[in-house]
Amino acid sequence: MALDKAEFRRVMGCFATGVTVVTTRSLAGEFHGLTANAFSSVSLDPPLVMVCIDKKSESYPCFQQSGVFTVNTLAADQEHLSRRFAASGGDKFSGVEYQIGANGTPILSGTLAYLECKVAAAYDAGDHTIYVGEVQQVEARPGAPLVFYRGGYRNLSE
Ligand SMILES: Cc1cc2nc3c(=O)[nH]c(=O)nc-3n(C[C@H](O)[C@H](O)[C@H](O)COP(=O)(O)O)c2cc1C
Repeated sequence: MALDKAEFRRVMGCFATGVTVVTTRSLAGEFHGLTANAFSSVSLDPPLVMVCIDKKSESYPCFQQSGVFTVNTLAADQEHLSRRFAASGGDKFSGVEYQIGANGTPILSGTLAYLECKVAAAYDAGDHTIYVGEVQQVEARPGAPLVFYRGGYRNLSE
C-alpha cells in the first residue's frame, strides 16, 4: 500500500532540524538559493556534507552546472530569509546582505555558520537529487539557531 504523503510529511516533521539557505550560481553567473533542511554532515575525513535538492526547483540545474554551493545556517532572527528563499522565482537576493565566497557563491550575512562546498557526487533519489559537497571553507559564529519542527519555525527556548 502506498504511503500517504501528508502522513509522511507529518512524521518527518517530528524530526526537529535547523534551517539553511543553500546558495549556488548559474553558468551565466546569476545567484540562486533555496531554503533547505535536508542537510547533513556525511564524513569527517574527507569533510563531506549532503543536501537534497528538489528536481522541480529553479535552482536545481545550477548545482550540476556550477559544481559549487554554500550552505548558510540561519540564526533565530532570520525566519524572513527562510521564507524568502522558500518562495520560487524573483530576485531573492535583492535587499539581502551577502558577500561572495571563494567558490563564487553568496555567503549570507548574520548567519550562524557557512560551509563553502564543491560538488563531489550526485545521487538520484526519487524527486530529489542528493548532492554531496566537499567542504572547502567554513566559519561558525555565536548565536541561537532557527529551528523547524512540526511544520513551523521555533526557537530553542519554546
Ligand atoms: C523549512 C523548509 C525546508 C525546506 N527544505 C528543502 C530541502 O531540503 N530541499 C529542497 O529541495 N527544498 C526544500 N524546501 C523547499 C524550497 O525551499 C522551495 O521549493 C523553494 O521555492 C525552491 O526555490 P527555487 O525554485 O527558487 O530553487 C524547504 C522549504 C522550507 C520552508
